[in-house]
Amino acid sequence: MNNWKLEYTGLNPAQEGLREALCTLGNGYFATRGAAEESEADEVHYPGTYLAGGYNRVKSTIAGKVIENEDLVNWPNWLGLSFKVEGDKDWFSLERCRVIHYRQELDIAQGVLRREMHFVDPKNRETNLVSTRLVSMDNLHLAAIRWDFKASNWSGSICIRSTLDGTVKNEGVKRYRELNNQHLKTIERGETEEGAIYLLVQSTQSRIFVAQAAFCQVFEEDMLVSAKRKTKQEAGKVSQYYTLDVHQQKAVIVEKKVALFNSRDQAISDPLLEARQAIAEKVSFTTLEKKHVQAWSRLWKRFDFAFSAPENSQLLLRLHIFHLLQTCSMHTIGRDVGVPARGLHGEAYRGHIFWDELFIFPSLNFRIPDLTRSLLLYRYHRLNAARRMASKEGLRGAMFPWQSGSNGREESQVVHLNPESGEWVPDNTYLQRHVNLAIAYNIWQYYEATADTSFMKFYGVEMLLEIARFFASITTWNKNKERYEILKVVGPDEFHTAYPEADQAGIDNNAYTNVLASWLLSHTLNGLELIGESRKTELIQKLGIDKGELQSWDEISRKLFVPFIEHGIIAQFEGYDQLIEFDWSGYRKKYNNIQRLDRILDAEGDSVHRYKASKQADVLMLFYLFSSEELVEQFGRLGYDFAPSQIPENIDYYLSRTSDGSTLSRIVRAWVEARADRDCAWHCFRQALASDFEDIQGGTTAEGIHLGSMAGTVDMLQRCFTGLEVRNDVLWLNPRFPKEIDSLKMQLYYRGVWLTLNFYQQKCKIEAKDGNSPPATIRFKDQELPIQPGKTELINF
Ligand code: BGC
Repeated sequence: MNNWKLEYTGLNPAQEGLREALCTLGNGYFATRGAAEESEADEVHYPGTYLAGGYNRVKSTIAGKVIENEDLVNWPNWLGLSFKVEGDKDWFSLERCRVIHYRQELDIAQGVLRREMHFVDPKNRETNLVSTRLVSMDNLHLAAIRWDFKASNWSGSICIRSTLDGTVKNEGVKRYRELNNQHLKTIERGETEEGAIYLLVQSTQSRIFVAQAAFCQVFEEDMLVSAKRKTKQEAGKVSQYYTLDVHQQKAVIVEKKVALFNSRDQAISDPLLEARQAIAEKVSFTTLEKKHVQAWSRLWKRFDFAFSAPENSQLLLRLHIFHLLQTCSMHTIGRDVGVPARGLHGEAYRGHIFWDELFIFPSLNFRIPDLTRSLLLYRYHRLNAARRMASKEGLRGAMFPWQSGSNGREESQVVHLNPESGEWVPDNTYLQRHVNLAIAYNIWQYYEATADTSFMKFYGVEMLLEIARFFASITTWNKNKERYEILKVVGPDEFHTAYPEADQAGIDNNAYTNVLASWLLSHTLNGLELIGESRKTELIQKLGIDKGELQSWDEISRKLFVPFIEHGIIAQFEGYDQLIEFDWSGYRKKYNNIQRLDRILDAEGDSVHRYKASKQADVLMLFYLFSSEELVEQFGRLGYDFAPSQIPENIDYYLSRTSDGSTLSRIVRAWVEARADRDCAWHCFRQALASDFEDIQGGTTAEGIHLGSMAGTVDMLQRCFTGLEVRNDVLWLNPRFPKEIDSLKMQLYYRGVWLTLNFYQQKCKIEAKDGNSPPATIRFKDQELPIQPGKTELINF
């Protein structure tokens, strides 16, 4: 098996959407699904092009109500490339041919998508066509396609059509099709003096301009052919037609190069001018490809995780790293964008940014920390919007939205469609205030990995302070309990957005939220001590914080209420113990796939609110985010007895009551199993690895990959199996590999030094490469090793 190539043979219309999502090519600036160049959006194909931060809002009327949604826009389709033989009515389509051979290959090492096609058309003409495509990782504005065309048993005149199509809409998710999906208007299109075509569109509300320019060259046996060229403009699109003679068994090569710019780019005058200029440079496909492959090889040097494990695990892990880097890369730095939960690979969740960053940032922290910094600044720049949201609710500080897009407004939908019942139902998932805790946790993790005090001084601690202030202001004092409470929120488990039969949305005292809020308040106080007296004084003055406020945070952090059921089992929220047990095996028998139990029960006229059944890890998140030492300390601060021996019981309790209706949940499941050293850890890890590849949710991957889960599997290798943790300025290792993993090699950038870590079942070799930072320390049990560039250390375990 080739561990660098994702391969598909034969056509499979039912699987095409999935292939398109998994074969998406991108560079962290824009990405385009792996749809065939000759296809258009229909029931099988969906060519989509998405831009980091490329959002637009439109209004729709649903059930008599006007609602506004913000979507990651599907920008013009630049892929368009097709041909027809003179005299034929129809343009090329594999669906109309007898296909002798079809093979599609995503070369993950090189970032290139190839399709090999050998077919016989209805007039018995046999043709070979190989398409090669890239979205440049070297020059973020460029993409290219090369067609190697050979007529096997015929000669004749053909017409090649290259198109830039701005008539596209956001139609990638069936459930959203009832909504207004027209985001683009065409501003300008035409042909340049050099013979390239161009298209300028603008989004209807956010008024982002996107310009594309494309240029084709045709070669016969390496010689440039001066094919007859004609440009045609239609509403919303522009095409170029090249007429030429092809000769039996003589190779014809078509190269299409495309430039894409938008009005949010830096260092530009006007996107159309830039696109036209870039395409006029007429760089050859070979040069473009060479530089692109080099850029990928530089990335792989940092990001590859080489490990020996059964089945296609190595390949799938690389696929996940590949898609992570296509969604956010060096080109994302400084762009004022966050990471969409579904990548730049489809339209599910409208390209919004959730708490999934919690699962994504750890892999970036240790490889391109500047990227995490930039992604955290996306939140910082929306601090005012978050302040406004808090104050609108009568609260203090900053309340970041559950779903975020362009300007930090709450982008969660008010109603959503249950495909099981066909009904629009209210969506209260926006009450997941814990997204703020994830932001705070990410800030802290970034700092631990990088020791970037200047980030903390100027951005990080200000965000922590405002989030802490928000949490302090949503807590209320309960006299009877003599504890603080957080009421009417939603935890990570989206099944429980309200109590059974309740009129009001939200549940009380979600354990995950309360424990993390306590962690936040205490760490914010620690954060203030990190940044030096003068900056601390400045911030306290700027935000108008008084001593009493800081004291109250300390007090709240010690007295938040955490509900328990019995025998040390943490209750997911207050009142959870009153819910009824769910008939897991009965429903599994009846429905087979019960991941989305909420929809099944709704369609049956029942409600998941009544049951002890979670969509995803909730209490379990505590064991995912914290080591047992940290948890004991955190519960100790809260005045609760919590012993490490209680952890396995809690894990067992919730694992058996969780449907894993979110792919994130599988990561947490695998993680807690692995840390508890259980044999099923490998099995759970494998499930998480295969979840998008096998589309285990039955259709959702076609609408966009699940980036949190993909990056989560990378982090499983990075931190979970290795026990890697940065605490108090020390890099701790505590490896515990499942027996299925024989060895693992990874690179780590830790506080200015590149480390190569080679793990084997019983030992670990650590090489410190270039770097000019002061020595840092690695600890394994009671062994302490200084990291010094040029030195190699060996740990036996
Ligand atoms: C999950 C959320 C997640 C979102 C985006 C939902 O299905 O329940 O936890 O943030 O998907 O990935």
